[in-house]
Amino acid sequence: MPVNFTQSALMLSLLLGLGTAQANSASSDLAAVAGIPHPAVIAHRGASFDAPESTAASYTLARDLGADYLEMDLQRSKDGVIFALHDNNLSRTTDVASKFPERKDSPANAFTWAELQTLDAGSWFNKAYPERARPSYVGLKILSLDQIIDIAQANPKHQPGLYIETKEPKQFPGIEHELKNKLQERGLLSQTSVVSKEQPQVGQAKGKVILQTFEKSSLELLQKEMPDTPKILLLWVGEGSIEPKSKVSFADSGEKTKAAYYAKQEPKDKAEFEKWVDYAKAQGAIGTGPSAELTQGGDQSYSDLVKPWMNQYTHDKGMLVHAYTIDTPTDFKKVLDAGVDGIFTNRSSELLKYFKRPSPKTVPQILEANGY
Ligand code: G3P
Ligand code: CA
Repeated sequence: MPVNFTQSALMLSLLLGLGTAQANSASSDLAAVAGIPHPAVIAHRGASFDAPESTAASYTLARDLGADYLEMDLQRSKDGVIFALHDNNLSRTTDVASKFPERKDSPANAFTWAELQTLDAGSWFNKAYPERARPSYVGLKILSLDQIIDIAQANPKHQPGLYIETKEPKQFPGIEHELKNKLQERGLLSQTSVVSKEQPQVGQAKGKVILQTFEKSSLELLQKEMPDTPKILLLWVGEGSIEPKSKVSFADSGEKTKAAYYAKQEPKDKAEFEKWVDYAKAQGAIGTGPSAELTQGGDQSYSDLVKPWMNQYTHDKGMLVHAYTIDTPTDFKKVLDAGVDGIFTNRSSELLKYFKRPSPKTVPQILEANGY
């Protein structure tokens, strides 16, 4: 019987005499066994601070900066094409309201791939962030999974891995099986590794694909379909995830912002947090993806699930912690000091600098070299 990830990592830890007091060193060994960089730079929807999320501009930029992983949220068109979209409709990030006004709030699976390809997925960014706007972002297209794989493999000097989330998976029954077929067809489920220590290529290593989901049922299906591919259970305080201590809703809380509300949300108790980590491990996950509270607040500041005791508990179970979504040196330090093993970031350029792995080229230089 092949030795699995957790067994190998635990054996390695025991051989090295690592106890819980040295969990971070042990967790870097855990990552090494799985072929996952430690600490990992995970480009959240690509380099989405600098370019429209989940587009070719954003993913080529993250790749050429040197991010370890391209992160994406997958959904499925009416005619079966798997593509990247974060929200549960197209209205924030495309011009669906002008092209298909009667369906502007419809979910992605109400549209064929041909319809989706008529949408402009870049202009919204120029309006939202005029200081980072570029004329070349106008008219950017929604990308299929196939196209993102092509992007990940197109730079011979650096091939990032893929960090794939099944988004709203109950809306897309069977997507886990279809994802497995696609990854298999593209040769991304093979366990072979041609990585050299001198020039690691994440995209060719054992950890070249990491699967992630918030949904228990999707984690179970992903494990059934792709038992040998690393999986992360995303954690959150609230409906469908960790039960909160207080059931007061945002509307009733009196808080001015969602960030202020989430900052006060915490797991019901210690056992509730531990229950989710235990569940993830029992389902074959190699780690968790907890939310983090951001110093400056904002719409990606959530409940603090990266407290040192939480990371320690997860490490003690032989599992990794990849926290989302962190963009500033202050917060990089905070979560790394608390023990996380990787960071989802909208600003790969900044995180790579923080890890002393800066890109030799600037963000504008890369964008321009790629035609943006
Ligand atoms: O997948 C990690 C992180 O992306 C989870 O949050 O809402 O941005 O998908 P979200
Ligand atoms: Ca995601």
